[in-house]
Amino acid sequence: MVNVFSTTPRIIMGQGAVERIGDEVKNRRIEKVLIVTGPIVRAAGLTDPLEASLKKVGVEFAVFDRVEPDPRYEIVSDCVDMIKSESPGLLIGLGGGSPIDLCKASAIMAANEGSVIDYVGIDMIPNPGLPTIMIPTTAGTGSEVTPIAILSDEGEKLKKGIVSRHMYPSAAILDPELTVGLPPSVTAATGMDALIHAIEAYTSVNATGMTEMYCVRAMELIYNNLRIAYAKGDNIDARSAMMEGALLAGIGFANAGVTAVHAFAYPIGAEFHIPHGVANTLMLPHVLRFNVLGNLPKFAALAEPFDIPVKDLDDLQIVDGVIAAIDRLARDLKVPRHLADFGVTEEDVPMLAEGVMKVTRLLANNPRTLYLEDAEAIYHAAL
Ligand SMILES: [Fe+2]
Repeated sequence: MVNVFSTTPRIIMGQGAVERIGDEVKNRRIEKVLIVTGPIVRAAGLTDPLEASLKKVGVEFAVFDRVEPDPRYEIVSDCVDMIKSESPGLLIGLGGGSPIDLCKASAIMAANEGSVIDYVGIDMIPNPGLPTIMIPTTAGTGSEVTPIAILSDEGEKLKKGIVSRHMYPSAAILDPELTVGLPPSVTAATGMDALIHAIEAYTSVNATGMTEMYCVRAMELIYNNLRIAYAKGDNIDARSAMMEGALLAGIGFANAGVTAVHAFAYPIGAEFHIPHGVANTLMLPHVLRFNVLGNLPKFAALAEPFDIPVKDLDDLQIVDGVIAAIDRLARDLKVPRHLADFGVTEEDVPMLAEGVMKVTRLLANNPRTLYLEDAEAIYHAAL
């Protein structure tokens, strides 16, 4: 079997790393950049160190700060309009997954014809876009090292993925200080998302020895630090470990893919606006219980990163222990556990299950074949 492994070529990580942005841009001989971010990130002052660093080296900048959570296609067009009027040589994506994904899509659309909808799917983009540098402000999506942008299709009530090698950022800057001010609920949801990236990529049918290595380390880092980062947000060691864990999980899933947990999260995210990390956490135990039969030894191997005792236990018992440990973590972090908490009812299940079956890009990676009746049963269990 032939495997391809890719990642962002330059990763700058550590406390105060964001102050390097000016030099990173200047060294590329770029005179002007566009910062792509959201209003909350900007109001929180997270663009300040960035702007100071750019000013210091004399790089001009403009700011597009209208990225919404779960951005719609239309926001890409708005950002591309600003790219056309400002003519930056590089885009900087600053924020959680939404600004970073929107930054990727906009960079591509600055150099390709038509509408962003035309490029939904895998390797549909003919031309490379503007170069990008990504600066995450959560330890979650790993989007700084993936070739994927997720956008909301309002018409179809679905989240859709654009996947292309042209969307790898040219650099990622990871500064744990940017995550210190995150509220506990966001730390919890984004951290669980990162953990789920690692679990899903590890158990994906496309996992390789190389992706497993990233995923195992990601699981250890996140499992051992997420409770601390949640409970004591200014613990910089825990924040650093979380940022590294999310990064490694991102590298793992960019190459092995995520699986059915994410597929189940997309319809409920699009239809009921449940935050991505919460939607994943909510679906996780139910999908894990379904998936284990597809590769029991692999799921039992999760005992190691989650530090689950295995002595005198068979694989099924070990897997029960793994699922219980992850469940306990989600409970400790007070992540909502039921779809009903978000107004989802029995009547919604058939429509949601049909939505899952359309996420073929991710279901292709799943360790167990999923049928419509399985999808309905899993949503029922999560109600
Ligand atoms: Fe995710």
